[in-house]
Amino acid sequence: MKTILIIGGSRGIGKAIASRLLENHRVINLSRNTPELSHANLTHHTCDILTDALPPIDFLDGLVYCPGSINLKPFKRLSLEDFKNDFEINVLGAVRAIQFYTPVLSQSESGSVVLFSTVATSLGMPFHASVATAKSAVEGLTKSVAADLAPKIRVNAIAPTITDTDLAAKLLRNERMVENTIQRHPLKKFLNPDEVAAMANYLLSDETKSISGQVFKMDCGIVSLKL
Ligand SMILES: NC(=O)c1ccc[n+]([C@@H]2O[C@H](COP(=O)([O-])OP(=O)(O)OC[C@H]3O[C@@H](n4cnc5c(N)ncnc54)[C@H](OP(=O)(O)O)[C@@H]3O)[C@@H](O)[C@H]2O)c1
Repeated sequence: MKTILIIGGSRGIGKAIASRLLENHRVINLSRNTPELSHANLTHHTCDILTDALPPIDFLDGLVYCPGSINLKPFKRLSLEDFKNDFEINVLGAVRAIQFYTPVLSQSESGSVVLFSTVATSLGMPFHASVATAKSAVEGLTKSVAADLAPKIRVNAIAPTITDTDLAAKLLRNERMVENTIQRHPLKKFLNPDEVAAMANYLLSDETKSISGQVFKMDCGIVSLKL
């Protein structure tokens, strides 16, 4: 049984990761709202990762950082404040969490950190300048921190395409938008949070003991395939 800290397990992909892990592992969730999950293996701390003191934890095998943003605007309408806010929640929150919990993760035989990027780092898409900038930093962070923390702690990232969560609700708000999203992807689908959770759980598991410093695209073909 591993002990995994999920930052942002109250909703979306983080909640799907927690739901998968809870049967066999201890899950510590940290988010501003209490998750609607209840399980003997679940502990919750109400905490804003950017502003609140982080709760001390005695032992951890894994850390997943889920907070992020999809702040889409034409470049000329993106303010410096937008860039700063996106950088803070996507990058600095993750830096803060990893730095704070590295000492306890180092005590694990198989420490693993999972971060989230996006397909927009690999494919130039209009309106994505701020999020693509922040998530490109997440990818740089993934690789360099993986080197710093080797061999004790592995660090990997998942770069999903659009995933059906609250964060993406605006992009999937009617049937036409859902159909357009499906048609834009060569695999004629987009992601549900449970598919992304399966990849995160794999990266937390000992089956990926040899994998660190990698960014895994879950792109339904939108970056990798041209039909
Ligand atoms: N959904 C997509 O289409 C998509 C696509 C590409 C990449 N991603 C990336 O995948 C990751 C997960 O996305 P998601 O769709 O699951 O997001 P989500 O539905 O917005 O969930 C984010 C989670 O983070 C928590 N959170 C947000 N701000 C926080 C803060 N300041 N302090 C503590 N917790 C905070 C939220 O909980 P509280 O509100 O309770 O604090 C929630 O549990 C993100 O990094 C996102 O950028 C998502």
